[in-house]
Amino acid sequence: MKKLVDNEIISCSAGIDVSKYDDSFLNKSLQKRITETHCDSAEAYRNLLEQSKEEALKLIDSLNINYSEFFRNTLTYSVLERIILPSIILKKKNTNCKEIRIWTAACAGGQEPYSLAMLLEELKNGESQRFDYRIFASDHTESQVNKARRGEYTEDALSGLNLKRIKQWFTRHGEIYSVKPELKKNIDFSVFDLFNEQFSAPPASIFGDFDLVVCANLLFYYNPGYRKKIVKKTGDCLARGGYLITGETERDILMKHGFSEVFSQSAIFQNI
Ligand SMILES: C[S@@+](CC[C@H](N)C(=O)[O-])C[C@H]1O[C@@H](n2cnc3c(N)ncnc32)[C@H](O)[C@@H]1O
Repeated sequence: MKKLVDNEIISCSAGIDVSKYDDSFLNKSLQKRITETHCDSAEAYRNLLEQSKEEALKLIDSLNINYSEFFRNTLTYSVLERIILPSIILKKKNTNCKEIRIWTAACAGGQEPYSLAMLLEELKNGESQRFDYRIFASDHTESQVNKARRGEYTEDALSGLNLKRIKQWFTRHGEIYSVKPELKKNIDFSVFDLFNEQFSAPPASIFGDFDLVVCANLLFYYNPGYRKKIVKKTGDCLARGGYLITGETERDILMKHGFSEVFSQSAIFQNI
């Protein structure tokens, strides 16, 4: 694919290595910036980029997509609620190991870990035997981790939630809905880059060994070599029989790397 602007020029102006990004994602982001800056050609945009630090920062910002939703993929969450989480709970009971360990590896503003915590709390209420769980929620963007930790959302961000869940898990202060402390108490938020070569998982989790890892809606931003690094990192820290979840549109990437889909179209995988 022909690049609108050479990686070297972007990297030099923006001060970050953009070679890790997928070419078509990079081109789309560049095209958007070209339109928004009213440049009449890629060449004109390249010149602007070389002269303007402000534009370089805007371009970097446009490469970091933080969009998320509560219960983002209906099918995935429904299979999680009805089949996967109950089977993990049963396995824990049978092995006398009580704590379920989960990692959401690109948690953005927190919608993903809070959705999982809601499911686990609801299952806990229906279970005769108790179980504990810990969710490690990380992202490489510090402002997103802070947002997730605060757990404050406007009404339109809650569209994936039914009224019962909104009433049960949020306190309303004017326009803002805040996640209740009882939903936060089992979630550990931290900044962690999936390309960190020193640690295999967020240091707070100490030894990985997760029953479930969610790594959704970020693989397609990266080139195949970097996708492979992320799949390896998240796959390697699964407990035996653990599950890896991606976004709906990333299913092919996991299958290419030896993972098998547990239920067709569900984006829930095991490394068989
Ligand atoms: C589109 S959001 C997806 C959020 C959530 N997983 C979901 O599916 O709704 C992508 C997130 O991945 C994070 N991200 C991208 N590259 C990352 C990396 N190398 N390490 C950790 N997080 C990363 C971004 O900061 C962003 O918050």
